[in-house]
Amino acid sequence: MLFGKKKAAPERGEPPAHIAIIMDGNGRWAKKRGLPRTAGHAAGAETFRRIATYCKDIGVQYLTVYAFSTENWKRPKEEVEAIMGLLDKYLREAIDQMERDRVKMKFFGDTSVLSPELRALIARTDEISTHFEGCQVNICVNYGGRDELMRAARLWSERGFEGGEQGLSDCLYSAGIPDPDLLIRPGGEQRLSNFLLWQAAYAELYFTDTLWPDFTNAELDAAIAEYNRRSRRFGGI
Ligand code: FPP
Repeated sequence: MLFGKKKAAPERGEPPAHIAIIMDGNGRWAKKRGLPRTAGHAAGAETFRRIATYCKDIGVQYLTVYAFSTENWKRPKEEVEAIMGLLDKYLREAIDQMERDRVKMKFFGDTSVLSPELRALIARTDEISTHFEGCQVNICVNYGGRDELMRAARLWSERGFEGGEQGLSDCLYSAGIPDPDLLIRPGGEQRLSNFLLWQAAYAELYFTDTLWPDFTNAELDAAIAEYNRRSRRFGGI
């Protein structure tokens, strides 16, 4: 035992191409501190910003995060507005930096019901993202896996059900993007909650009790290290 030495960081190994995260636990993080739930979402938005930068720095090609589900409209109006406000703030700041930082952005979900201001910001980030190559962050807003599949089924029928599995994949919000390799859910629950139901078919799942605002870069390293220890067989042997 070497006293006074920090515990070595886990050997992370190569990061997967695509990481997906359910950013859960913001409300409980706030409650533990006697703060309103909205303060938890604000802290969660900062964690998202830090983790997105870290993912880009270590060579992750795609990061997909669940920011607001089709079911989250059931939450109190004040909480919904706070999350939309954080998204607005994040996008305004990102617009100035994304090209310099080489971070592209894409939205998964029905954004047509969002405010005109948010829709304009999304159109702007979409447009900027066409100008360069870089790490792509997919933000799921008003997103539900079943809703996505219903929409995809309609589109696929218009296309005459062509192309088999790939044909349906091409009708999803994630068309053209490889499936997530690693799906992380902080916050202690062990379920998918309607997130990437089709795309996560062979994702390695990583659950942790850490609440999202407390999720560190070291914990992402640990998740990637765990991912690299798994044997992915995709149904083979
Ligand atoms: C789940 O935690 C979190 C959400 C429903 C919202 C996530 C939103 C953000 C992190 C901020 C906005 C996002 C961006 C991309 C800037 P919860 O509220 O269900 O937590 P709980 O289970 O502890 O109640």
